[in-house]
This record gives sequence, structure tokens and C-alpha cells, in this order.
Amino acid sequence: MSELKRASFGGKISAILVAAGSAIGLGSIWRFPYMAGEYGGAAFLLVYLLCVFVVGIPVMLAEFSVGRNTHMNAVGGFRSLSRPWRWLGYNGVLGALFISGYYYVVAGWSLEYLVSSLFGPLYSSSESFTDQFAAFQLSPRQAIYTVIFILLTHLIIVRGVEKGIEKASKVMMPALFIILIVMAVRVAFMPNAAEGYRFFLSPDFSKAFAPETIFTAIGQAFFSLSVGMGCMVTYASYFKSDNNLTGTSMSVALLTLLVAVLAGLVIFPAVFSAGLEPAEGASLIFITLPEIFKDMPFAGLWSAVFFILLTLASLTSTISFHEVLTAYFAEEHKLSRRNATRLTSGLSIALCMLTLAFTFDIDWAGIKLENISFFEIFDYTTANILMPLGGLLTCIFVGWVMKPSFLKNEMTNYGSLRGRAFGLLLFTLRYVTPLLIIYIFIKNLGII
Ligand code: PHE
Repeated sequence: MSELKRASFGGKISAILVAAGSAIGLGSIWRFPYMAGEYGGAAFLLVYLLCVFVVGIPVMLAEFSVGRNTHMNAVGGFRSLSRPWRWLGYNGVLGALFISGYYYVVAGWSLEYLVSSLFGPLYSSSESFTDQFAAFQLSPRQAIYTVIFILLTHLIIVRGVEKGIEKASKVMMPALFIILIVMAVRVAFMPNAAEGYRFFLSPDFSKAFAPETIFTAIGQAFFSLSVGMGCMVTYASYFKSDNNLTGTSMSVALLTLLVAVLAGLVIFPAVFSAGLEPAEGASLIFITLPEIFKDMPFAGLWSAVFFILLTLASLTSTISFHEVLTAYFAEEHKLSRRNATRLTSGLSIALCMLTLAFTFDIDWAGIKLENISFFEIFDYTTANILMPLGGLLTCIFVGWVMKPSFLKNEMTNYGSLRGRAFGLLLFTLRYVTPLLIIYIFIKNLGII
């Protein structure tokens, strides 16, 4: 498809905001703090930081190159460069489906908590937050909020790349930063906040380099940067030809890191201040945070502000994996954009209902599998298997299968930029990133 006919994001800042919008989401604000809580706080932060540089940025740049070079969806992009590698694009499509299968559910929780903080029972009920969370998971409201979130995403995507995705990201991303900074400042004045900073900022090196920590941190880096599943290929297909891909990938990674660190600076001081445990698991922000808000003046309002933040961050991410599927259906199966959007939203609803039925013990239509959580299956397989595998193959493809001039041309915009980091990036993509991913796979999946 020619670049002229295809939609594109306005300028450089738009490209950064849109890609950062995809990256920054539940991964940085919800998943990162509880992973850090479980894997030793600062120790995890340190390893995560390394993974972002050694794995995240090189893979993102490789994906940007494929997307901007081909101006196609994930499958079409890889296929047009080398036919057998279209399977790498399909890996991305599968990843986008898997993420759709549970991400909207968590995003729906943030919507529920937003509404409940403002108008509802969250702070007025006599039930504990744990009980309220459990009750919510068994009520039909969970399905309703999930569907509402899919419809919100649908409404943005159906408006197209410029009027939908770009416009939404340009408003929501700055709002998100402002809210996060205000929250971090507010939390700093809570009693005992220092203990939280200590937990989050002083690493215990004995824990940091355990293979399990590295495995989890790599998964987190893939997930939080949206790399390894064709998302950045799809978004870069809308970049302009003068976009500095190296600069864009660095900016996106740094903004994502900043948000993860800010999220930690909100959550850990708050957790310690309330005398709670940091390793609360997936419910950390839905049970622990309300516990903290409730003692603040204007509890409902602060809580609503936090859940607005989470909702906005989720929405700029859901539109990105929705777009992976929409662009794929529209371009590979020749559907109109409207129908491709409908198909994607329909599939997302179906998958989420499956997840809800099998995860939260609701006996829907008499089918129930004991002890199998679709939620965990979807989360684990995307972050720890599909995305690292996609990332590994992307490194091999751009580093070894394509000629070095492919990456060089994309990094230098065919000679108009200097591309000083080219040598370092090619080396990292060829050797460091793939070997690290392979090593961690072997170590953790017990292959040896
Ligand atoms: N990066 C997003 C987040 O952190 C999740 C995501 C993964 C979005 C893959 C798109 C593709 O929330």
C-alpha cells in the first residue's frame, strides 16, 4: 500500500505519544508494582531496567523498522519481506487475541472502581475491601464493565488512525502524567512513606539475579513495552518516513520506565504507610489501595482520580492491540475498517466471557472447569511465552535474515540521519538479546 494513501500519525511527538500510549498501561501501573512486590522490590526494578535496555529497546526498534518499511499490518509486514516469516506476524495476532482475553477484564475493574469511588458503595459499605472485590468478581457487573470497556475501545478504533487513536492518545497521555505526579506528591506526605521508598529503591542483590527474577522481568519488559507481538510493527506502519526510529524507541521506553517508577513511588509508600504487605499479588491496587485511600480526607475523590488514571492508561493500550487485529482483518482479509473493527470487538467480547466464565467460578450455562484459570493462562502465556518468543524471532529476522542494510536504512532514514548507535544495536540484536532470551527460556521452562 502506498504511503500516500495509508493513514499516518501527524508528527514526531504524536508518534511518541501513541506508541507510549500503547506501552504505558496496566503493565506499568498494575502489573509492575505487584511483580516488584513479589520479586523483592528494588531488586526487581533493577533487573527490569536492564531488560528494558538490553531486550525492550532493540526489539522495539526492530519492530519499528519492519512496520515503517512495509507500511503494513503485522502479518503483511513480515510476509512482504519474507514469506515464511509471516508466521511471526501470526504469533502477534495470536498474542493480541490472548491479551484481549483478559486485559479488558482488568480494565473493566478499574472502570467499576472509578464509578464505585464516586457514586457507589466502595467507601460507604461496611464490607471489607477484600469482600467487595470478591463480590464484584462474582457479580454480572464484571461482565458488564468488561463489555463497556471493549465498546469504548471500539468507538475510538472505528474513527480511524488519526481521528481515533492519535487524538485520544494526545489528550489522555499528558493527563495521565499529571495525575501520576500529583498522586506521588500526595503519598510522600503519608506517615511511614520512607519505608516504602526503602523497599522500592534499595536493591537486595542476592535476589536480583535469580533466574526466576530475570525471567519475570523479561516477561514484564515485553509486556509493558508492547513488544514481541506485532503491536509496534502495526503502529510504526503509520509513522512518517522522517521519523527517527531510534529516538522514538528510546523515548517510549524511557516514558514507560518513568511511569513504572512513579507507580511504584505511589504504591509502595502508601502500602507501608497503611502497614500492609507489598506482596499482595494481582489484587494489590484493588484491595490495598482503597485501604489506604479510606483514611484520607476526600477518600472517594482521590480514589476516583487514581482509577481515572488507570482507565486512561488502559484505554490507550487496549486501542493498540485492538488495532493489531483490526489492521490484520482489514488488510489481510479485505474487510472494511468498520467490519474489521466489529469483528475484533466481537471476538474480544467472546474471549473475555470465556475468561470470566472459567476464572471466577461462575457456573455459566453449566460449563465449568475446576482449577483452571483462563485469566492466568492468558496472562502467563502472553507475557512469558508468546511475547518473548515473538521478540526472539524478531531479533533473528532483523539481525540475521535481513541484510544489515535493512536496519541501517531504517535507523538512518536512508542516509539522512547519522545512526551512530547502528553498530551497537545490530550487535545487541544479533547476539545479546537472543542469547539472553534463549538462556532464560531454557533455565525456566526446565528444558535442561
Ligand atoms: N503494554 C501494555 C501495558 O503495559 C500492554 C500491551 C501489550 C499492549 C501488548 C499492547 C500489546 O499495559
